[in-house]
Amino acid sequence: GFVFILLVALRVAYIYRHIVVKGKRCTSKAKLHGKTVIVTGSNTGIGKTTAIDLARRGARVILACRCKQRGEAAMEEIRRESGSSQVVFMQLDLGSLKSIRSFAESFLKSEPRLDILINNAGRTGQTEDGFGLMFGVNHLGHFLLTNLLLDRLKECAPSRIINVSSMAHNFGKIDFDCLNSHKALGLGTSFIRLLQIYCDSKLCNALFNHELAKRLRGTQVTCYTLHPGQFISELGRNTGLFLQIVLKPITTFFFKNTVQGCQTTLHCALQEGIEPLSGRYFSNCTVRDLFAKARDDAAAKKLWEISERLCGLV
Ligand SMILES: NC(=O)c1ccc[n+]([C@@H]2O[C@H](COP(=O)([O-])OP(=O)(O)OC[C@H]3O[C@@H](n4cnc5c(N)ncnc54)[C@H](OP(=O)(O)O)[C@@H]3O)[C@@H](O)[C@H]2O)c1
Ligand SMILES: *[C@@H]1O[C@H](CO)[C@@H](O)[C@H](O)[C@H]1NC(C)=O
Ligand SMILES: *[C@@H]1O[C@H](CO)[C@@H](O)[C@H](O)[C@H]1NC(C)=O
Repeated sequence: GFVFILLVALRVAYIYRHIVVKGKRCTSKAKLHGKTVIVTGSNTGIGKTTAIDLARRGARVILACRCKQRGEAAMEEIRRESGSSQVVFMQLDLGSLKSIRSFAESFLKSEPRLDILINNAGRTGQTEDGFGLMFGVNHLGHFLLTNLLLDRLKECAPSRIINVSSMAHNFGKIDFDCLNSHKALGLGTSFIRLLQIYCDSKLCNALFNHELAKRLRGTQVTCYTLHPGQFISELGRNTGLFLQIVLKPITTFFFKNTVQGCQTTLHCALQEGIEPLSGRYFSNCTVRDLFAKARDDAAAKKLWEISERLCGLV
């Protein structure tokens, strides 16, 4: 009796892990010879597995990463894994508007094309210099980057912009007063506050996407936002050792690996025929409805305008 129940339980666990956790794969066979892709935060996590896949398909892949040493190490690894030499590192710190401008300038000078922009970098947790950085990196940095590269994307159309958000956006809210007065989504550095700010920053991604899709109507540039699923990466590295140890057994079973985690990003970047779904949200390689607050036209417009002001675009 007991052995039978144990076997059934193991079988259920196995099936759960291999079907539900693993999720769908991107099935596009698209090749990308002659195309150029930027992946931000591609030295680790799903940014790296995304870059490997795109390089295998023949794309010229720009690894836009913060740290030269980590970026160049990833470049070697991605070249080796993909068998492509068309993989280059270019320094980009999304926490610094100056770095973003200088990245965009050297990119536009040295690279004639941009076919796919993948806004993947993200961070959680506390920073040396306090708060603000989750908003800065997860939203504002990508906002400025996308705007600076938009003309090149239009010239190379049909082209795509992909925004890695998270279903965490559902728990987000945007405190416009705080944004106006402190250039931050929220103050406070407790674990709960930081978690909230992460969710808020992911709501910004979804709202940005909503407004961007509207502004891109009539061009052949399309944009998509997505939830990659929960997967094991370095994302929790700033959240403290205790939490990491407590969560380890749960994440080992319930979370994807980074190859499984990048499938929805690849789907949005490659799948033929999804252009009519520009501005929409994907999860598990499937289009989903966004929660109403992420489709709030007024909030999306307001966030866009504040973001323009904060990064000096107007
Ligand atoms: N892990 C999950 O379960 C999960 C779930 C939902 C959504 N996501 C989203 O998936 C995306 C990728 O996350 P991941 O889990 O792969 O995380 P990760 O392993 O921590 O990788 C994040 C990447 O972003 C880079 N990054 C951080 N701050 C940066 C900055 N200021 N400038 C440039 N790059 C910076 C990191 O570079 P360094 O190595 O130099 O720090 C790293 O390459 C994020 O947008 C995240 O919000 C993840
Ligand atoms: C993803 O989609 C597959 C195939 O439709 C399904 O079997 C699996 O349960 C889904 N996983 C999640 C987390 O929704
Ligand atoms: C992703 O979100 C960031 C900030 O929210 C934004 O700057 C970027 O352009 C977005 N891209 C898309 C496709 O939504």
